[in-house]
Amino acid sequence: MKTINKLNTKQVVLITGASTGIGHATALYLDKMGMKVYAGVRKETDKQKLLQEGTSNLTPVFLDVCDQDSITRSFDLVAKETGEFTFSLVNNAGVSLNGPLELLPLPDIKKLLDVNVCGLLSVTKTFLPLIRKNKGRIVNISSGHGLLAIPDKSVYAASKFAVQAITDSLRVELLPFGVSVSSVVVGKVNTSVLGKILDDRNKMLEKAQPEIVKLYSHLIEYFDKEVKNIPGIEAIEVAEVIAKVLNRPKPKAQYLIGPGAKKMKVLSRFPSGMRDNLLYKAIYT
Ligand SMILES: NC(=O)c1ccc[n+]([C@@H]2O[C@H](COP(=O)([O-])OP(=O)(O)OC[C@H]3O[C@@H](n4cnc5c(N)ncnc54)[C@H](OP(=O)(O)O)[C@@H]3O)[C@@H](O)[C@H]2O)c1
Repeated sequence: MKTINKLNTKQVVLITGASTGIGHATALYLDKMGMKVYAGVRKETDKQKLLQEGTSNLTPVFLDVCDQDSITRSFDLVAKETGEFTFSLVNNAGVSLNGPLELLPLPDIKKLLDVNVCGLLSVTKTFLPLIRKNKGRIVNISSGHGLLAIPDKSVYAASKFAVQAITDSLRVELLPFGVSVSSVVVGKVNTSVLGKILDDRNKMLEKAQPEIVKLYSHLIEYFDKEVKNIPGIEAIEVAEVIAKVLNRPKPKAQYLIGPGAKKMKVLSRFPSGMRDNLLYKAIYT
């Protein structure tokens, strides 16, 4: 890991979904930089782990982005301790759901949209008075699937396109208050989400009707290989970029991290007919 530059001025940040992966790496990275970090978790074991790993400046908070009471309780705690310092929010909590729409259970679809979209909106809305107070920043963790919607990812892509839309809308809405809003668009990152994707997919296939599974077998095999074989980057690389966004005088609207995200951005600019052809040929021929 590169040397971490310590900050001179005190800054406060809340990061949602800090139990594992990108959120966990970012909470510890920002803590090492000298920021006052509130790290959202949902389990006591994750709280204890973070308390052991971080400094006394890192405070785990119980925050389920789908539970308004827990969001309000976190807000009350953070607001009491933030004082006149700049407060920023990193919306990282998210879940994944892959597969052909015909095979995806409706409760799973609704849950994903609840966490990835409504959860992000609820946390942002609740914390806005604090973010606005001292020109804080909002950093939304997005995905290459928020730039290019491909087969097998209709639901996940819908949620990350929504994250992009929220980012773009709020960036101008909050400009008069000096609040910056950026998205960090990541490609494949080696986190526990990749194992969860394969587990969920197996569960989905067990429940589905075999004749329907057969219809989509080619597509399912293609994306199984993709999850297993395409190299990912490490979560710490994303943490380094989030730290930059929080500390640059003028953050950019969008940051692309990893080869996957950059490739998706380029492909998203192709005319739709050409794009569809390329995707079809890659998957089916
Ligand atoms: N890994 C990738 O390849 C990749 C690529 C593009 C974008 N992303 C995005 O990056 C973000 C982090 O993903 P990751 O790869 O680090 O996955 P991860 O290791 O599975 O972490 C997801 C985090 O979200 C939390 N979470 C889930 N549901 C929640 C809820 N209702 N309330 C609060 N927290 C909740 C999880 O907490 P629990 O442990 O309590 O469940 C966990 O801390 C997500 O937004 C994801 O979409 C990841």
